[in-house]
Amino acid sequence: MLSKKLLQGLNDQINFEFYSSYTYLAMAGYCESIDLSGFANFFRVQAKEELDHAMKLYDYVYQKNGSVVLEQVNKPQGDYDGIIDVFEKGYEHEQLVTRKIYELTDIAYEEREHSTISLLKWFIDEQVEEENNFNSLVKRVRRIEDNPAGLYLMDDELATRVYTTNTNN
Ligand code: FEO
Repeated sequence: MLSKKLLQGLNDQINFEFYSSYTYLAMAGYCESIDLSGFANFFRVQAKEELDHAMKLYDYVYQKNGSVVLEQVNKPQGDYDGIIDVFEKGYEHEQLVTRKIYELTDIAYEEREHSTISLLKWFIDEQVEEENNFNSLVKRVRRIEDNPAGLYLMDDELATRVYTTNTNN
């Protein structure tokens, strides 16, 4: 049985994961608008992964006999100051997600709610990967900032990213 506080925290995180998906879909749209369809593909896949994160929490809440309350999803940022800005904002976003997951985990620890702690450990590990991916991509796009050939090579590479769910682990 989840406490009211923990249930509220999980619901907030579900909503935030949907907002994350919206954010990355907006970034995909921006990339399309500057003719970087490979980068757009990267963010479309990222948006799908965020939906998986939301649904992993959603399913968990019902497994624990709680109820999900879906809220209005905030409008994401739609315009960016170039491709470096997109990745920097993505990296900042993932750092914010990590902080939110840590706060939620703190509540679960305070309440000694071990099954929620176990679930959130999956998210903590996932965030290491998410932050590392974005940090690496920020560094790469900074390196090719003034090199159109490098940018298009990277665009080709990111066009090959394929969506696969990993939330069943
Ligand atoms: Fe759901 Fe990218 O964290």
